[in-house]
Amino acid sequence: MRRTIVLTGTLLFAAGMALAQSPQEQVDKTQLAMKSNLTSAIALSDIVRDKKPYDQAAVDKALAELDDVAKRFPSLFPESIKGLKPTKGEYSASPKIWTERADFEAHSAAFVKAVAQAKSNIKDVNSLKAEFPEINKQCMACHEKFRVKG
Ligand code: HEC
Repeated sequence: MRRTIVLTGTLLFAAGMALAQSPQEQVDKTQLAMKSNLTSAIALSDIVRDKKPYDQAAVDKALAELDDVAKRFPSLFPESIKGLKPTKGEYSASPKIWTERADFEAHSAAFVKAVAQAKSNIKDVNSLKAEFPEINKQCMACHEKFRVKG
């Protein structure tokens, strides 16, 4: 028991160290994760639109990256970055991410679920074409409410 407490304390300390960066750095890091979402979505949509042949390795890579970002979503938007904007870029986070946190987390969870479903269902070009719209729908649903221009 005592050991568990010490260990947990150490882990929390380590997590605190990882977060020890300026809020602006976090905003730019968050934006990079968002750009990674775009790269992954383009890799998939190129196949969906027959611009590229189906490639299982490329699909797996894109889905793994989407999964990674999806699972980190809520932690990419800590309270400390509220009101800040990326150094460069067209979009920023809406304050609603913090004022309507439960809904933001629900959108993040729906995205995690869509990616998990895609990971288990996509086996070929037809299943990719069937699953991709669901992922895309989650991107747009969240942006509509939680992403603002400028
Ligand atoms: C749960 C909410 C949510 C989901 C799901 C989501 N996004 Fe976003 N996205 C945001 C928010 C908030 C921003 C604005 C903050 C920022 O740009 O850092 C953003 C910004 C972006 C940007 C702009 C980055 C820039 O240059 O500023 C792109 C591109 C993007 N998202 C692509 C995607 C794609 C593609 C998907 C789906 C595969 C997706 N997002 C899913 C919330 C979401």
